[in-house]
Amino acid sequence: MMITLGLQLLLVLLLGGADGGWNQRQIRKKVHQLREVQNYKDFYSRLGFPKAASLYVPPIEGFLTQPLDHFNRRNNDTYRQRYWINEEFWKRPDGPVFLLIGGEGAESEFSVLAGEHVELAQKHQALLVALEHRYYGASINQDGLTLEAMRFLSSQQALADLASFHLFVSQKYNLTQKNPWMSFGGSYPGSLSAWFRLKFPHLVYAAVASSAPVRAELDFTDYNKVVAQSLSDPVIGGSSKCLNRVRKSFQEVDSMLHAGNVSKLERDFSSCSPLQGPDDYTEFVSNLADIFMGAVQYNMESPGSDVRKICGHMVSAQSAYEGLRIVNSMYMDYIGLKCVENSHEKALSDLGNTTLSAVGVGERQWYYQTCTEFGYYQTCGDGSCPFSRLITLKSQLDLCTEVFQIPPESVHQSVQFTNEFYGADHPKSSRIIFVNGDIDPWHALSVLKNQSRSEIAIFINGTAHCANMNPSRSSDPPSLQKAREEIADKIAEWLQSVRRTE
Ligand SMILES: *[C@@H]1O[C@H](CO)[C@@H](O)[C@H](O)[C@H]1NC(C)=O
Ligand SMILES: *[C@@H]1O[C@H](CO)[C@@H](O)[C@H](O)[C@H]1NC(C)=O
Ligand SMILES: *[C@@H]1O[C@H](CO)[C@@H](O)[C@H](O)[C@H]1NC(C)=O
Ligand SMILES: *[C@@H]1O[C@H](CO)[C@@H](O)[C@H](O)[C@H]1NC(C)=O
Ligand SMILES: *[C@@H]1O[C@H](CO)[C@@H](O)[C@H](O)[C@H]1NC(C)=O
Ligand SMILES: *[C@@H]1O[C@H](CO)[C@@H](O)[C@H](O)[C@H]1NC(C)=O
Repeated sequence: MMITLGLQLLLVLLLGGADGGWNQRQIRKKVHQLREVQNYKDFYSRLGFPKAASLYVPPIEGFLTQPLDHFNRRNNDTYRQRYWINEEFWKRPDGPVFLLIGGEGAESEFSVLAGEHVELAQKHQALLVALEHRYYGASINQDGLTLEAMRFLSSQQALADLASFHLFVSQKYNLTQKNPWMSFGGSYPGSLSAWFRLKFPHLVYAAVASSAPVRAELDFTDYNKVVAQSLSDPVIGGSSKCLNRVRKSFQEVDSMLHAGNVSKLERDFSSCSPLQGPDDYTEFVSNLADIFMGAVQYNMESPGSDVRKICGHMVSAQSAYEGLRIVNSMYMDYIGLKCVENSHEKALSDLGNTTLSAVGVGERQWYYQTCTEFGYYQTCGDGSCPFSRLITLKSQLDLCTEVFQIPPESVHQSVQFTNEFYGADHPKSSRIIFVNGDIDPWHALSVLKNQSRSEIAIFINGTAHCANMNPSRSSDPPSLQKAREEIADKIAEWLQSVRRTE
């Protein structure tokens, strides 16, 4: 089902959409792993490995004790939040502080070692700090994923954690007004980066929000509208023939399910277990759709996410249905799967799993945040959606009730509140850069137009989710190179302006 929002690259984040589909999880895991490997390589190439590696001083990893509930000091429960600090580039005592915000998954030391913000920190001699999001990775208590314990998981609490981290770092390094902070984040943490500036302008001087879906939306039909556009976009190897074949293949699958011709589908698409009823049918078609959504969202960011290749198979196969079958088996080879898990029971038990893991993406936590704050359900009710009509809002909202006992009306109200609280895609702030790629379906919920002289939107032609957060490469398309320059110029200008106003 849903492809999550983001992957912040280096940082490991993936936003999730919402639906908790099994294939989506496989894709996110794979992208996450690949990014770690890529970060590792980029990091060592910057260092001149192995020659200069002996000079390398590892970043500081530590834990900060935080109140579990910042908004009720009579509750004295705490948890330990993980952070990293890289002092390598910092010009004492007046250099700026660059903060990388986490979310959706565990962070790692690469949060302060590789990526666009690290290149910028080097240039501006900044202290690099990163904070893992509460309830993800190692930043959680032992009982943290029980439903009762998760009540303190929210973006508001996460922003309060950032304020408290700001105090901690300021005390540790004797920072003053002369050390301006800049925040960075991608996907949901991109929204947090914008909101940190919006709600705490006295703490953070400016923010970069990459692929940030700042507008919450219950029924996110536009996601698949952009996926459809991308599948027909010749710039990235799509075509209208490709889109038509994808549409046709899902129509055939839907009518076979309708006719009860299920065993053929189970065989052709290597289902791990028999499809037992409508809930499994929805899982099944969602898993197939995930392959296309993932290819678009992460186009060219991993070898398995390649619209050109997928469209090549769809177009050259003997029939649309055969194309879908080939794409599915290509995807299984890529991830290394023997079969695809389509059991709804299994999906429920995965999302219900309260065992903590200090690494990887936090599926249960992220789904919880969609139910309590953001929605973001990638539905297929709109005529522009090329996938199965079984992918409905109801099928995704049902998970909120089944897993977290949160009824649909409550999800609806929470989404409205989130937009009221933060200002949706018209935040009234200053010194924020919103960066998006036109291939990335999440751009539909972000800020795409300049809001004022210093609330700036950069819209990149031909790139996917959070592409600008990756370390720069000589293979970056010109549109991405230009965006990087614009971001770098703005940051330089803003840092200059701090000095002038001192
Ligand atoms: C925490 O609160 C409880 C009751 O509210 C109190 O009994 C206990 O002493 C407090 N613990 C600390 C460490 O303050
Ligand atoms: C901060 O200031 C205190 C008191 O002036 C000093 O003892 C300490 O070494 C300073 N810390 C750093 C990291 O500069
Ligand atoms: C299932 O579909 C296949 C291929 O489309 C067809 O040959 C077969 O007769 C169908 N079986 C049923 C029970 O509809
Ligand atoms: C729950 O998750 C843990 C860690 O991710 C895993 O080892 C365990 O097998 C899962 N339990 C179930 C019942 O799936
Ligand atoms: C948005 O603002 C930036 C920076 O001030 C400027 O370069 C750009 O031309 C503006 N874009 C539009 C569409 O006005
Ligand atoms: C995007 O780039 C492609 C070529 O890479 C070009 O054909 C197209 O016109 C560009 N679109 C916009 C809106 O600039």
